Amino acid sequence: MEREKVHYAELGLVNTKDMFQRAMVGKYAIPAYNFNNLEQLQAIITACVETGSPVIVQVSKGARSYANATMLRYMAMGAVKMAREMGSNIPICLHLDHGDSYELCQSCIDSGFSSVMIDGSHLPYDDNVALTQKVVAYARQYDVSVEAELGVLAGIEDEVSSEHSSYTKPEEVEDFVSQTGVDSLAISIGTSHGAYKFKLKPGESVPPLRFDILDECAKRIPGFPIVLHGASSVLQEYVAMINNYGGKLDGAVGVPEDQLRLAAASAVCKINIDSDGRLAFTAKIRECMALDPKEFDPRKYLGEARKELVRLVKHKNETVLGSAGKA
Ligand code: G3H
Ligand code: 13P
Ligand code: ZN
Repeated sequence: MEREKVHYAELGLVNTKDMFQRAMVGKYAIPAYNFNNLEQLQAIITACVETGSPVIVQVSKGARSYANATMLRYMAMGAVKMAREMGSNIPICLHLDHGDSYELCQSCIDSGFSSVMIDGSHLPYDDNVALTQKVVAYARQYDVSVEAELGVLAGIEDEVSSEHSSYTKPEEVEDFVSQTGVDSLAISIGTSHGAYKFKLKPGESVPPLRFDILDECAKRIPGFPIVLHGASSVLQEYVAMINNYGGKLDGAVGVPEDQLRLAAASAVCKINIDSDGRLAFTAKIRECMALDPKEFDPRKYLGEARKELVRLVKHKNETVLGSAGKA
């Protein structure tokens, strides 16, 4: 049986245009939280409702096949309804994170996504332009937003993996944006994906992000929404909890929150956070398992993990992104 097509507006979702416009003027960033399962989605929505924050919930290719594409469509619709039943009108966008092909973007658009990323950052410049153009042409017909990327982040991200990062070249951004017609652009300024963002020798501290590159890009495309990937802070309280309860995350380190606050106040309109949520969730599950080894009801440990994720997302919205109260 073929999957039924649906437009995101029917699910109560919105694209990113208005969100980004307001974030640019208001000098904050829209949080983009990755999710894979019910409890993560419930936590993100609850926290964003409680803080009155607009939100982008995003799924990778891997997350979409984990959750099932059809299930995901109904989960997104359920998320919107849940927010409304909580008495909140926060804008919610469903976004494909790191789409790696035209076909995947098309399939997401056809199944209710309101925004897609086509990640051609690993391709030669002209191929990245051509692929992005093709996705934009399809997305335009449905008023779906498109994010693209210039420059390569280090780290592993599903099918998109890269051993070496390369910063975005500011001299390319203007041409790329005008040729492709994208709605936002992810750039590489020193972040990377995952929980091991920097290799630090004893006594060394995290190197600052390349704000000079960000400023140079913003100058060349004034008022255009910029996206920051790999923006987890790898909160050490969660790393310690994981390690205390039998985990092994040695040397996990992320982007300091004060740097993200600076980025959020700039032309960066979307900040992607996945690893921090994973760490909070895993830390709580490990703690529950260790403290109550007789328990085997998943609602007990997943429920605690969900509560912890609510706390984390509220903290991010209120003190890092500045998106609380902006819905
Ligand atoms: O940037 C990638 C996200 O963290 C998603 O990761 O492909 O393991 O779902 P994933
Ligand atoms: P983190 O691994 O830093 O959370 O980055 C997530 C991300 O960029 C998703 O696209
Ligand atoms: Zn990313």
